[in-house]
Amino acid sequence: MRGKLIAGNWKMNGSFSLIDEMFKVLCPSVEKGVCEVVICPPDVLISSMKKKFEGTMIEVGAQNVHSEVSGAFTGETSVSLLQECEVHWCIVGHSERRMLFDETDEFIRSKTETLLKHAIRPILCVGETLEQRESGNYEEVVFAQLGKGLSGLETDEQLRCVVAYEPIWAIGTGKTATPEQANSMHRLIRKELESIATKKVAEKMRILYGGSVNAENAETLLSQSEIDGVLVGGASLKTEVFPQIVKAGS
Ligand code: PGA
Repeated sequence: MRGKLIAGNWKMNGSFSLIDEMFKVLCPSVEKGVCEVVICPPDVLISSMKKKFEGTMIEVGAQNVHSEVSGAFTGETSVSLLQECEVHWCIVGHSERRMLFDETDEFIRSKTETLLKHAIRPILCVGETLEQRESGNYEEVVFAQLGKGLSGLETDEQLRCVVAYEPIWAIGTGKTATPEQANSMHRLIRKELESIATKKVAEKMRILYGGSVNAENAETLLSQSEIDGVLVGGASLKTEVFPQIVKAGS
């Protein structure tokens, strides 16, 4: 049985005051042990958020990390600092990093390895553009991202990863993949994981859906057999919406 994971990605948004506001509304709606909740704020907010949410069921994650442990990489955040902040999750391979910052599968892979070596669980994002979906080769695109991200890792390392399927045409656009579209893609990803990894990994790995998840569609998406959680962007910043999404996963 794969437990549900609800992850919020604040991207380059949020504030110190939003931490307090989210704390007030979110804590009462998180029932002990029912679903896991992770919020990934911008790096400068991580420490404050960690302190605020200490002792609750809500975890704090990061949105990015560098593959090198330290060095002359102006503006980057090291895995050791994330570890010092007691971060247990980090997003890698988000389409915005792939497209706006030219991150390659190889770079994403090395970040994944660095995170795993430092006991931080990667949330590996994969997903196709609208063009790729319409041209019909989106499965190969997603499988290639998946293969480059996960193949060759030790089984226990693969088991610590979570995959987030985020069709790029659904991110921030208000266009969600239909629950059936998402579920069938998740089923294909799980099948592919059998050859990239093993049957056991395929059965156990959580596959999240991301792309315009909101209070209206969360419940139906989360009730699909292959959807083990959601990665939420815009709606994770809304204090009246994110708790509802969390409830839908409970
Ligand atoms: P969205 O973003 O929910 O605003 O579409 C999702 C994401 O980019 O992870």
